[in-house]
Amino acid sequence: MSGFFITFEGPDGAGKTTQINKVAGKLRQLGKKVAVTREPGGTKLGEAIRNILLDPQQNNLCSEAEVLLYAAARAQHVVEVIKPALAEGKIVLCDRFLDSSIAYQGFGRKLNLDIIQTVNRYAVAGIKPDLTVLLDVPVTVGLQRIKSKGGLDRIESEKLVFHEQVRQGFYQLSRQEPDRFRVIDASRPVDVVSRQVWQVVAERLGDLQYEDDNHGGTG
Ligand code: TMP
Repeated sequence: MSGFFITFEGPDGAGKTTQINKVAGKLRQLGKKVAVTREPGGTKLGEAIRNILLDPQQNNLCSEAEVLLYAAARAQHVVEVIKPALAEGKIVLCDRFLDSSIAYQGFGRKLNLDIIQTVNRYAVAGIKPDLTVLLDVPVTVGLQRIKSKGGLDRIESEKLVFHEQVRQGFYQLSRQEPDRFRVIDASRPVDVVSRQVWQVVAERLGDLQYEDDNHGGTG
């Protein structure tokens, strides 16, 4: 597989979507083939599953079903979007992936990590990120950003302690795989964060032409 798989992770409200769009814009300016996608989602099935998972009305959804629905969306996403894009040599920028299931369902919901790993091993079919950018933000800052833009979804509405556990989960994952993870303080202004995100991506893509000439302009 000749492409490059970059995932963006972090607590809710870390600003992943904004940062992904900036990176995608810069890569495209450089003539790179880029695919931008997200989890849960990225496919017709995945988006339908996303609507269920994030719907505050689904307040009866049990944790086991939650794990399996995220994994089902992921399996479809890997087969339909990620594998083909990598096979075409694209740089795939993915808003969340398997690490989110470990952090949210494993650390947040305190479900059995081995079971989550096993189910997801089946779902990802050997696909693993080459680089994971962890946009870290204090839980209260992230949730405040979301609230200022509108209402909270089913997961965002969880208690603060849940979100703290998720954040700790991401930390732990980043410590377990320091080569794959790059942790960035996303509580800073968007352009400061985007400059650092770009440095990390450019460094990993290993090409001097990726140097940030416009000092993080609008991208
Ligand atoms: P998003 O709003 O960042 O796109 O993510 C959707 C929500 O789903 C977010 O609160 C994190 C959560 N989530 C999980 O709990 N487990 C997962 O495996 C994924 C991909 C997301």
